[in-house]
Amino acid sequence: AGNRTLAIIKPDAFGSGKAGKVLALLEDKGFRLIAGKAKQLSQAEAGAFYEVHKERPFYGELVSFMTSGPCMPIVLEKADAVAALREAIGATDPAEAAEGTVRKLYAESKGRNAIHASDSDENAAREIAFFFAQTEIVG
Ligand code: CMP
Repeated sequence: AGNRTLAIIKPDAFGSGKAGKVLALLEDKGFRLIAGKAKQLSQAEAGAFYEVHKERPFYGELVSFMTSGPCMPIVLEKADAVAALREAIGATDPAEAAEGTVRKLYAESKGRNAIHASDSDENAAREIAFFFAQTEIVG
């Protein structure tokens, strides 16, 4: 499995000043931050990023939430990064998220759920390239 994955600290967590706490939690769990920036997504960018969910009933709500304020895409490095990050962030629905996970601590609902994480190595590669040039990622 790959050693890199993409996360996005979503507008709810970023806007309420939780970015630092989320980064600290992830660093404490052994992830290394190798790229990151604050970014206001346009409708077109959010729509393209979440293209795989285009037919889902929550797509419009998702795009509107993700463009409601700035977010923070980050690239994280760790052994088996995709699975390790999904474990660290917890279930999509914060009501089902395990203790100590990002979503248990900071998410409000299934939609406003604080953080995104890639769900496969293939999507991690696509999502990292969506936000970052090679020159913006430290080796
Ligand atoms: P994310 O990991 O960013 O990828 C897809 C997102 O869709 C997911 O996080 C949720 O925030 C969002 N999502 C999934 N299910 C629902 C739902 N029932 N209502 C609103 N948003 C949802």
